[in-house]
Amino acid sequence: MRKLHLQRYTPGQRSNHWAVVICFVLAGISGFALFHPALFWLTSLVGGPQWARILHPYLGIAMFVLFLLMFLMFVGANIWRREDSEWLGSAGKLVSNPNQARMPAVGKYNGGQKLVFWIFTWSLVLLLGSGLLFWQAWFADSVPIWLQRIAVVVHAVSAFALILAAIVHIYAAIWVKGTLHAMVRGTVSTGWAKHHHPLWYREQMQRQTPTAQPTDAA
Ligand code: HEM
Repeated sequence: MRKLHLQRYTPGQRSNHWAVVICFVLAGISGFALFHPALFWLTSLVGGPQWARILHPYLGIAMFVLFLLMFLMFVGANIWRREDSEWLGSAGKLVSNPNQARMPAVGKYNGGQKLVFWIFTWSLVLLLGSGLLFWQAWFADSVPIWLQRIAVVVHAVSAFALILAAIVHIYAAIWVKGTLHAMVRGTVSTGWAKHHHPLWYREQMQRQTPTAQPTDAA
């Protein structure tokens, strides 16, 4: 049996996404290791304490630059619309009763995905801006200590927001069957598209011809 699929991401977009994920994990490990003595053991996963301290800011910058590329590619599809607020308003029903909830028709991304996208964007901007202010190796000497103290708090709060949003993002990617396939193989089934993103499905059906793929793919 074969199933019809639509292209959702190009190989370049997927490589970009997974490069962001690698930076996110490594910057997260080295960041947690520096955050509290109880998490110091994490330094052994990134080459020891000195390397954790040296690498963390560069991993953060790499993540920001790579995310910026994704931002430029996906911002157009993440512009907030009226149906996104309606979708978010019904999200509780979707979580408690996925089969019964009647959700407003959405395009390439739904309100939840767009909210996560904007939390990713703003938390990364704040992480970069605040991190530069207390980067001892380069800039901290010329920044007043009171500003560095505020920057440390902003850095921790935005990291918390980013991690929370990433947990929601990963949960949704696994929970909504067939979604991971989009970021692993680049395609989704026509059934997935019609069910979860009907406006995008309609638009794609006018643009591309669905291709057949074996059904063992999610
Ligand atoms: C293990 C971790 C992750 C997994 C499994 C994952 C999975 C996915 C999947 C399946 C999609 C496609 C969703 C769709 O087309 O409907 C996606 C899209 C996306 N992901 Fe991830 N992701 C992960 C981590 C991250 C991180 C850390 C970031 C950024 C900080 C990120 C940013 C994005 C963005 C910007 C999109 C495009 C969708 C949008 O604009 O809302 N992802 N991800």
